[in-house]
Amino acid sequence: MAKQEDVLKKIIAHAKEYGFVFPSSEIYDGLSAVYDYGPNGVELKKNIRDYWWKAMVQMHENIVGLDAAIFMHPTVWKASGHVDAFSDPLIDNKDSKKRYRADVLVEDYIAKIEAKIQKEITKARKRFGEQFDEKQFVETNPRVLGHLKKIEEIKNRLYPAMERSDMEAIRQLIIDLDIADPISGTKNWTEVRQFNLMFSTQMGSTADGASEVYLRPETAQGIFVNYLNVQKTARMKIPFGIAQTGKAFRNEIVARQFIFRMREFEQMEMQFFVRPGTEMEWYKFWKEQRMKWHLSTGIPAEKFRFHDHDKLAHYANAAADIEFEFPMGFKELEGIHSRTDFDLSAHEKYSGRKLRYFDSEINESYVPYVIETSIGLDRMFLAVLSHAYTEEKLEDGSERVVMKLPPFLAPYKVAVFPLTKKDGLPEKARQIMDNLKFDFMCFYEEKDTIGKRYRRHDAIGTPYCVTVDHQTLEDNTVTLRERDSMKQERIPIDKIAGVLAQSLSLKNQGL
Ligand code: GAP
Repeated sequence: MAKQEDVLKKIIAHAKEYGFVFPSSEIYDGLSAVYDYGPNGVELKKNIRDYWWKAMVQMHENIVGLDAAIFMHPTVWKASGHVDAFSDPLIDNKDSKKRYRADVLVEDYIAKIEAKIQKEITKARKRFGEQFDEKQFVETNPRVLGHLKKIEEIKNRLYPAMERSDMEAIRQLIIDLDIADPISGTKNWTEVRQFNLMFSTQMGSTADGASEVYLRPETAQGIFVNYLNVQKTARMKIPFGIAQTGKAFRNEIVARQFIFRMREFEQMEMQFFVRPGTEMEWYKFWKEQRMKWHLSTGIPAEKFRFHDHDKLAHYANAAADIEFEFPMGFKELEGIHSRTDFDLSAHEKYSGRKLRYFDSEINESYVPYVIETSIGLDRMFLAVLSHAYTEEKLEDGSERVVMKLPPFLAPYKVAVFPLTKKDGLPEKARQIMDNLKFDFMCFYEEKDTIGKRYRRHDAIGTPYCVTVDHQTLEDNTVTLRERDSMKQERIPIDKIAGVLAQSLSLKNQGL
């Protein structure tokens, strides 16, 4: 088994054992690509959501929030293009009876060629040592050039075929590349068919009077249809943004890799409304801002990269992903899109309402252009969790699993332990906890040895543990133990809140 899969398996098992993420309806053997967040997961998820909200809304005077309903008028999805174009090309293998996204089969094939290029680079780097010039090597090595040419040729067939919705051309590409089903190993493929990803249901009490409504596949449309309500009531002037977090639903066919691709998930989106013609400058601005936010979590820069899109969605004139190195490799974490006036103009057309903004600075009325930042909360959760998960061998030969979460994201900020269950220590510990709990998420426990209690809190990422012992009763000091260094120091009780506040302050995060 590949090592990367091993890591993901360990994270999934740890997430379940320590109450971060459970499979949905587990007693009925689960529901594919649907997950529930447990007591620690819900705290971590909330903290990530709050951190995003603070960075986007609280830190920007010209961005305000919205909480639109999940159900929307069905015409919204006609106007947005989701009814006609929000679909994946699917192909079945007749032997394994497995269903695949046809474009993903081809993209996986490209990824294999990319891995070959990477192997050549690693080999050459070893051979040439210090003097190795990667750029020159990639531009001149015949084998690498051959691989790059092949990738180019495949992309030149795949993307135009996707653009034209030419299912036969995509199938022919799979046949020509000799792609086999990873399960059956055969090339016995069906036709490629388009499959719409939206879930629908009926609204209304009788079958006759009921109308078909959709579970929103993105939160963005709730922002578009409310943009004038928000602009007028919050007295916003262009450029301004509207932020929203909330559930989205997609009937993903290739649902895999834990909470990376789910059928019910949460998005954190912001639409930034700008004067037409200025969109590229704002697109650049938001690309930088969003990367800055990711780095502000303390996760190192080499775990992130931009991927500028060759193939643009029907609504975009520029788009990039921020990719994160998950246990299964670099994958999309967030999208930044310059969506032009596509959505607002479409809603003008379908609703018959004017969605123009009067720009008093230039005395002109226009449909604003939009820059969108869109990140999956569950994907960010997986990024944070997988980066934090650490197995350590300690000096005494023992091992510990520690979640090195940024303290401000950790489910609990401090755990308070009485050394023993007697001599008034629990009462003293409770007093400390009762004082701290107004400002910090605290955990109290008195069961098991202190060592075991430390390990349990390492495993859920609690940055500080406070131990109350007999000396505390004499001089009002406690032992404060820091999670990552495991260093312990004796401090007065009235200094605990200050240490926590300093370590949790977002002022030091470089937002
Ligand atoms: N409004 C634009 C939009 O929805 P998207 O690239 O389809 O764009 C944005 O989705 C983000 O939502 C992705 O970068 C990803 O983080 C998250 N996302 C999309 N589909 C997802 C799924 N099935 N499961 C979990 N997260 C998903």
